[in-house]
Amino acid sequence: MSTENPRVADHPANRIFLDRWSPRAFTGEAMPQSVLFTLFEAARWAPSSYNSQPWRFLYATRDSAHWDKFLGLLIEFNQSWAKTASALVFVVSETTMVMPGKDARVPSHSHSFDAGAAWGSLALQASMLGWCAHGMVGLDFERARSALHVPEDCRIEAAIAIGKQGSKTMLSEMLQAREFPSPRKPVAEIALEGGF
Ligand SMILES: Cc1cc2nc3c(=O)[nH]c(=O)nc-3n(C[C@H](O)[C@H](O)[C@H](O)COP(=O)(O)O)c2cc1C
Repeated sequence: MSTENPRVADHPANRIFLDRWSPRAFTGEAMPQSVLFTLFEAARWAPSSYNSQPWRFLYATRDSAHWDKFLGLLIEFNQSWAKTASALVFVVSETTMVMPGKDARVPSHSHSFDAGAAWGSLALQASMLGWCAHGMVGLDFERARSALHVPEDCRIEAAIAIGKQGSKTMLSEMLQAREFPSPRKPVAEIALEGGF
């Protein structure tokens, strides 16, 4: 399944960046663990402050005993479409880190930034393999912390629904209207020479 992609780059960039997008219609097919682990492998090589690698990925595939629990942690709107994903992943980051040559854990300034870089790599790797990764913050963070036994010094960043793109006819009319690769602000608006 593919959708016509109206995205146009302002400046030459590799096509993988324009081809990645976040559909909500998924086929619900099984995802081989080897593919899922390839996505985690891509995430693993992301850069992080002091190479602290604060990201953790809690996952459930749709054929596993964990699936219903993971799906139930999303808000109803996200459950309504993510129920046909092949895997659900919660991205968590450690908020403290050990500086090189030290023993004590200290607060990390960049744990979320680092985990964001890792999720970005995961999403691009998924897209390159013909899968789609759709980020979500629409979830019950308090229940997720308890149900997934997330330690106190970790932040739940977001969840990800991963699947193969399905037919948008399976979605409500409202969601069908939003099922296309979205545009972006121009580079001139986001890159500011010399400061704000
Ligand atoms: C951290 C994060 C949280 C998001 N939360 C949701 C969500 O809860 N529900 C949803 O339908 N989409 C969610 N999205 C998808 C975004 O709306 C989408 O990435 C954005 O509109 C850009 O579209 P694209 O990913 O197709 O390029 C989220 C994306 C990210 C990165």
